[in-house]
Amino acid sequence: MKHLISPLDLSVSELKEILNLAGDIIKDPQKYANVCHGKKLATLFYEPSTRTRLSFEAAMLNLGGSVLGFSSADSSSAAKGESVADTIRVISNYADICAMRHPKEGAPLVASIYSSIPVINAGDGGHNHPTQTLTDLLTIQILKGRLNNLTIGFCGDLKFGRTVHSLINALVRYDNINFVLISPDELKIPAYLREEVLEANRMPYKEVKVLENVMPQLDLLYMTRVQRERFFNEEDYIRLKDSFILDAKKMEYAKEDMLVLHPLPRVNEISAEVDNDPRAVYFKQAKFGVYVRMSLIMKLLEVEPC
Ligand code: NCD
Repeated sequence: MKHLISPLDLSVSELKEILNLAGDIIKDPQKYANVCHGKKLATLFYEPSTRTRLSFEAAMLNLGGSVLGFSSADSSSAAKGESVADTIRVISNYADICAMRHPKEGAPLVASIYSSIPVINAGDGGHNHPTQTLTDLLTIQILKGRLNNLTIGFCGDLKFGRTVHSLINALVRYDNINFVLISPDELKIPAYLREEVLEANRMPYKEVKVLENVMPQLDLLYMTRVQRERFFNEEDYIRLKDSFILDAKKMEYAKEDMLVLHPLPRVNEISAEVDNDPRAVYFKQAKFGVYVRMSLIMKLLEVEPC
């Protein structure tokens, strides 16, 4: 049985299969409308979510399956002190596959050890978010036409942003990717990513503090929210929260075909005036998240198109 805990659980060829299947689902959703009939997805969300949980649920419903779950730790037995290991042992009897989001790094990995159904990591603390990465890769593949030969800028909270960590891990396996890491000193990527992922793979990267200066080089700009819930104190958050605000003026420095991605939710880091720029693709990106999760559910359940 397979789980998806880290973006590296999928080989490049498995990733390609998932993205291709998602592409086929987009072309002919009707063909997939009943492939998961009788199957159940459990969504175990111990942390807030809008897109990830609802796109998982929409994905399973689109495949003809059904969904059950909880959307906060308070409404589950975690509030009574139950361990993740015990919860998953029980949920394994109620569902065929589960997506888990948890504030603690490693919780979905622990769940996968005790589970008899596939476990999908839907975000674990400041660590990983592999299904957002699938969403990002599908967006880049469809709208840019390639997953190689790209200069990608990551901007904002690169320290706590799990979507950034997962996407960097996934992208180092493609050819000719240049990383431009744009953040204040306090929010730089963690040392393990710099040393064990970027440097170990001899990836070209630079760390900068001013967005405008690097804007003209970028093929993709991946904006992120400053992750308030992961700060140790509110003062630091307030000082850093508006470090970068992408507005129409800054977009003037960008290439005509640069794309702006954002996993959402957005707070202040992209001003609303950018939404009408054709290069702003974050709402399309959120839509692609449903198709790629449909594809992933099919792969993990080993379901074939009818
Ligand atoms: C992200 C997350 O939860 O890590 N959101 C998402 O799943 N689309 C990004 C964020 O919360 O900033």
